[in-house]
Amino acid sequence: MSERNLHLVTGAAGFIGSHLVDRLLTAGHRVFGVDNFVRGNKENLRAARQHTGFAFLELDISDTAAFVAALNEVGGMIDVIWHLAANSDISAGGADAAIDLRDTFMTTYSVAQVCREYGVRKLAFSSTSAVYGDHGSIAVHEDIGPLFPISNYGAMKLASEACLTALSEAALDNLWLFRFPNVIGGRATHGVIYDFLDKLEKTPHELRVLGNGTQCKPYLYVDDLLDAILLIVERARDRINCFNIGPEDEGVLVRDIAEIVVDKACRNARILYGSEDRGWIGDIPRFRYAVDKIQALGWTPVCTSSREAVEKAVDAQVSERSGKSA
Ligand SMILES: NC(=O)c1ccc[n+]([C@@H]2O[C@H](COP(=O)([O-])OP(=O)(O)OC[C@H]3O[C@@H](n4cnc5c(N)ncnc54)[C@H](O)[C@@H]3O)[C@@H](O)[C@H]2O)c1
Repeated sequence: MSERNLHLVTGAAGFIGSHLVDRLLTAGHRVFGVDNFVRGNKENLRAARQHTGFAFLELDISDTAAFVAALNEVGGMIDVIWHLAANSDISAGGADAAIDLRDTFMTTYSVAQVCREYGVRKLAFSSTSAVYGDHGSIAVHEDIGPLFPISNYGAMKLASEACLTALSEAALDNLWLFRFPNVIGGRATHGVIYDFLDKLEKTPHELRVLGNGTQCKPYLYVDDLLDAILLIVERARDRINCFNIGPEDEGVLVRDIAEIVVDKACRNARILYGSEDRGWIGDIPRFRYAVDKIQALGWTPVCTSSREAVEKAVDAQVSERSGKSA
């Protein structure tokens, strides 16, 4: 069998996946990306496509047989799978449970089958704070339980974690479960800043906020997230390695995010709030992570607060949008 030196990234054309692809290529790895463009886009892969170490396949990987078959030539060379493909529209998954079954869970099941078929023994998975459910302002540790997610997205991510821990028993050397917070930055395909900027493009005089603006969550800049996951993969070498990743602070209010966006993008817009304390069914209005486990590995984010991360992400997205419209 050929040397295993290939990194497979699912969701490669998405927001975080495309940044990860660039980081892996810069570090000298060969990368095979796969995405069906349900949300990601070709523009996100512009830099990667210039690179000779990059190959890409457009495929719906919830079709397990098609995914396994498509990797026939490269499967034996895969060293690590970074599984990032998933549905990222949580409210859409609330309206139609089939979305998270297909894009969040079945994509994971397919990845597990690829590991079995081609003997891939290292797997990194992008999980989420949504697996915890609603714990109010309590700082949740990785080992809190039982876990009761309140969205189909959170449920299918938790089911994915379970599918992969079961796989690890027989077929993996290392499984990394990253529980991401809200991640923000340039190339976003969704999220609160993206939605606010979209709304302001359509109605520059007003910004309608989902919920009353008191939702409060931690936000991490994408570069800090990538530093964290690359460090975890380097230093955490148990069979199952589960980490919360996030800033230490209590987060930033949606009301503050709306004000920052309006200030930087559309100064005269009026901000209009809803009456509910959450944006949609399945939205967790406030959560907090305990992050001592990842801090003990030696990671601290460059953006020292959620607010700083928000400011930086709004700047990045405003500048991308003005580039597109120029
Ligand atoms: N951005 C965040 O705040 C955040 C928070 C927690 C967890 N996560 C997780 O991180 C990962 C990346 O998120 P993101 O923000 O970059 O989202 P994203 O939507 O930009 O990226 C996901 C990518 O997966 C692709 N995809 C979805 N279903 C697919 C399928 N069936 N076959 C092939 N490709 C498919 C999409 O086209 C998209 O490009 C996801 O697993 C997400 O659940 C993100």
